[in-house]
Amino acid sequence: MRYNVGERELIRLVHQTGAIFRDRTRVSQVREKGLDDFVTQADLAVQETLRTELSRRWPGIGFLAEEDAVRPERRDRPLWILDPIDGTNNLIHGFRESAVSLALWDGTRAVMGVVYNPFQRETFSAALGRGARYNGQPMGVSKRPDLAHSLAIFGTSPYEKERADLVFRQAKEIYLRTEDLRRGGSAALELCKVAAGRAELYFEFNLKPWDYAAGQLILREAGGMCTDLAGDPLPVTENADILATNGQVHGEALEVLGRQR
Ligand code: IPD
Ligand code: CA
Ligand code: CA
Repeated sequence: MRYNVGERELIRLVHQTGAIFRDRTRVSQVREKGLDDFVTQADLAVQETLRTELSRRWPGIGFLAEEDAVRPERRDRPLWILDPIDGTNNLIHGFRESAVSLALWDGTRAVMGVVYNPFQRETFSAALGRGARYNGQPMGVSKRPDLAHSLAIFGTSPYEKERADLVFRQAKEIYLRTEDLRRGGSAALELCKVAAGRAELYFEFNLKPWDYAAGQLILREAGGMCTDLAGDPLPVTENADILATNGQVHGEALEVLGRQR
């Protein structure tokens, strides 16, 4: 790709938005976009801060960002794929489990990703072919070999409650097969937890590109696997049902989830 984007420079820019997450005035200005789907002034401020800084440094790269009303039609050119705050409902409730998720898409694939949780001071990052890092240090997935020895995470698809029967049927089946099940409330951070070896799998329906573009690269560079629920490669710039694992338990998880559909 023509653009010279450094992972460390990108991390420095993303870190500049940390103060906005702690700005209770902005966080308390909430609008409901859809049923139980909220946006705050903090989401908008993070997005605009990053847009300003990124477009000043790399003016040719477009934006596919959650809070934009108009999004690029063409996805075959370089784009920043940005979720300014993944885990907005957590932020509103003071749950301290929210993150910026930023990926660089080169027109055909994600080549860099950063996920930053300012509350825990945790930064997960990766560059294509160059591995994944946790706060700058190399990280990798766990080696646990099967579901019976796994900690699982799921997402509830909170904006599509009509899917609740299927979601919780799958969750119950995975829960019964694993040591235990978690729900954190930030898809980007869930992917990074699998990448960091804290859990063995994560699944959720209908994630948006900005929820998973950075996290799926970080996970794959950490040695894990990320596919849709049929086991096919992820489209990255389109919505997708996601299964993310340490690689070892992927087949078993696909089979269990597939049986409930
Ligand atoms: C949501 C969070 C949540 C997941 C939803 C996402 P948002 O993103 O990642 O954990 O369950 O599917 O849409 O709305 O907080 O950016
Ligand atoms: Ca999100
Ligand atoms: Ca968001």
